[in-house]
Amino acid sequence: MIIDHDAVELCSVFTPSPVEFHLSFPAEPVLVAARGSAVLRAAFARQLLAANRTAQLVLLGAGLDTFVAAEFSGPVWLVDRPAVLAWRHQVCTQAGVADIGTPVPFALPDAGLLPALVDAGWDPTAPTAVIALGLSMYLTEEQNRALLASLVLPPGSLLLMDVLLPDIAADAAGRDYAAAICARAGNSEPWLSRFTPAGLAELLVDCGWTLRESRPEAEQVPALFWQRQSHLRPMRLVELVAAVPRS
Ligand SMILES: C[S@@+](CC[C@H](N)C(=O)[O-])C[C@H]1O[C@@H](n2cnc3c(N)ncnc32)[C@H](O)[C@@H]1O
Repeated sequence: MIIDHDAVELCSVFTPSPVEFHLSFPAEPVLVAARGSAVLRAAFARQLLAANRTAQLVLLGAGLDTFVAAEFSGPVWLVDRPAVLAWRHQVCTQAGVADIGTPVPFALPDAGLLPALVDAGWDPTAPTAVIALGLSMYLTEEQNRALLASLVLPPGSLLLMDVLLPDIAADAAGRDYAAAICARAGNSEPWLSRFTPAGLAELLVDCGWTLRESRPEAEQVPALFWQRQSHLRPMRLVELVAAVPRS
């Protein structure tokens, strides 16, 4: 079992600590779904990063994610909105957690992203893993298109992202979770796009990428994982996607 000790420290900065909140309401469906997705997408990133040894790592929509970068041996860049990166740094400092990575503040998509990464030391000729997990749903389809098209990366690079399936392709748990999130009052970060795997594959091709694999998040772990869970349940809503630059 992997324990993300940094996440525990980061959570301790908040009152109530998100960890304590989840432990207090372990079976609450929205928390179960959010917890499951966060764990599974991080596992996906770690697995594919280990299997595809790229020289550099760029986290798009980095948020408070310190888990994925922690084991990466090369340089890391963190892209998120300016206020979020500043907040992240403050939270990491307060929690005593290393804020690994060079901040590159941007509201995405932005055609200036790659030039800014170069200014921040990124080598555009070296294979790079771009991890954009938990991001696509906060962008419209057109914004996703612009972002994907702006990522012109050298051969050997890898893009990892996740998308939300439309209701028609989700299961009841997925639809309930989506409905609960969309109904949240005062939601400042609404979900703006959802893709079928086929629709996303087409978008990737349009934007210069080749889909390498697409898997339902529940398949990120063996069936035994689900059998051993007291609260987590497989949910069909999130698709984990890996793509490579078109050769
Ligand atoms: C759900 S969090 C995901 C954090 C982390 N990547 C993960 O996998 O847990 C979404 C992150 O995307 C960022 N984000 C949303 N829209 C964005 C935009 N237009 N430009 C840059 N970052 C954005 C948010 O600030 C937030 O940090």
